[in-house]
Amino acid sequence: MAKEERRRNRMILIPGILLLLSLARAEDKVHLSNHCTDFRTAELLHGSSLSVQFLLFTPQDPNCGVLINVHEPISIQNSSFNSTLGTKILIHGFRALGTKPSWIDGMIGALLRPGEANVIAVDWVYGSTVQYHSAVENMMELALRISVLIRRLIALRGISEKSIHLIGISLGAHVSGLVGYFLEGKLGRITGLDPAAYKFTKASAEERLDPGDALFVEAIHTDADGFGIRIPVGHIDYFVNGGKDQPGCSVLRNPYNYLICDHMRSINIYISSLENSCSLMAFPCSSYQNFTDGDCLDCFDPFLLSCPQIGLLDHGGIGMTKLPTGVQVFMMTTSEAPYCAYHSLLEFKLQEPRNTDTSIEITVHSRNFTTTKKVEIPKGSHLGKGIIGHHAPLCQVDIVGLKLLGKKSMQRFWSRTKAQVTGKFCAAALPLYSSEPTWCLSQNLILTENQPVLHDLAMAC
Ligand SMILES: *[C@@H]1O[C@H](CO)[C@@H](O)[C@H](O)[C@H]1NC(C)=O
Ligand SMILES: *[C@@H]1O[C@H](CO)[C@@H](O)[C@H](O)[C@H]1NC(C)=O
Ligand SMILES: *[C@@H]1O[C@H](CO)[C@@H](O)[C@H](O)[C@H]1NC(C)=O
Ligand SMILES: *[C@@H]1O[C@H](CO)[C@@H](O)[C@H](O)[C@H]1NC(C)=O
Repeated sequence: MAKEERRRNRMILIPGILLLLSLARAEDKVHLSNHCTDFRTAELLHGSSLSVQFLLFTPQDPNCGVLINVHEPISIQNSSFNSTLGTKILIHGFRALGTKPSWIDGMIGALLRPGEANVIAVDWVYGSTVQYHSAVENMMELALRISVLIRRLIALRGISEKSIHLIGISLGAHVSGLVGYFLEGKLGRITGLDPAAYKFTKASAEERLDPGDALFVEAIHTDADGFGIRIPVGHIDYFVNGGKDQPGCSVLRNPYNYLICDHMRSINIYISSLENSCSLMAFPCSSYQNFTDGDCLDCFDPFLLSCPQIGLLDHGGIGMTKLPTGVQVFMMTTSEAPYCAYHSLLEFKLQEPRNTDTSIEITVHSRNFTTTKKVEIPKGSHLGKGIIGHHAPLCQVDIVGLKLLGKKSMQRFWSRTKAQVTGKFCAAALPLYSSEPTWCLSQNLILTENQPVLHDLAMAC
């Protein structure tokens, strides 16, 4: 505020001093560019017009954002930008309250910690607030300015398009798509974190993020029944916990946090993938239901060589040179950081098929955690199966509990004999590259209706 006032005062000084002042101002700017700059907060009345700051963070000084002015080559040439490293450009989305994104410092820190990237955070808080539609109107102009920045970096620092990775959040994901489109799909990578739905679900591919926007485009979907888009927009699209409702998001007290919890989860999971070494692996399947039913156990269809993982591995680790597009991949997570869940197939195979549907509740217990899954065995068949996402791998599971679920019918209520089934329990860790589970309890189990049977599970790691 004080600076604005000073500037305005200068404007009304007599012309004779103006030259001196403009020199002083130029000095001001050079001086400024050597200092740390933070995101700005938009005032509600002035918030809707676009105003952009590019803040450069480098491993040398990870806590200091240095302002880059596209129109002053010196601010790029003389910055600590390291041309031998890759460049990550972070683009936030709609800012309902006109404030700096709470997660941005954490994301910048996580991207810089390995010491292998320049990070440029795009502050468009001005222009992303007040009304959603005015933020949407500003996207094209914002994307143009980011494209100009990238062209300057290429021209002045000799970096390649391939070395650039855009990370766009919500609306920012589609801004990334536009930037990629302006740069003819030559950028190395775009990561869309829960790309925004509203106004984009039915947009053409040019108007939203799509696989043509970079050499590799991935999206992480966590609120596809709310703020996030439900259609695939990349080469690989992660639908986390089915992409709609996230564990731990239904019990929050704060109504605002509750509203954005699912949407925010994509950011938290991405930060976690940068900070933790545990695997956030996903599996291609026709639907989440089919995935949790145990229909998709590997990554052969479509052929991905290996299963994709959220994080910074090239192409998500799938190792293909010719990438498939719009591959929906599914995974489960836990409710808290680091979110990684170990996916395991659980099976119960009846000795004799029954003339009624059978439900069995299977519970695995490891030291601190319990996960329960209900598997269904249709009338006339042998096999019931399902996938769990547990906090620990199968080999750290101590005990498995199985319970034959009773039917709640009057006939059953009056019947004296309890139903019993005999069968075998088997389990396997995913990905499973063969059709049979690799590990079974040696003896058959006899399950009596509503009486849990506990058994040690001593799988070797
Ligand atoms: C370049 O940066 C150095 C310190 O980082 C500063 O001393 C120098 O004045 C700058 N040069 C120009 C032309 O801005
Ligand atoms: C740029 O990064 C490379 C690779 O990490 C490093 O060896 C080099 O010292 C860095 N250059 C500067 C000026 O920091
Ligand atoms: C799920 O699997 C079943 C049986 O394999 C199949 O008929 C169904 O079409 C699949 N669901 C979707 C959404 O593709
Ligand atoms: C289990 O919880 C205890 C204390 O709550 C903790 O010290 C321990 O590391 C946890 N073990 C595992 C395997 O997570």
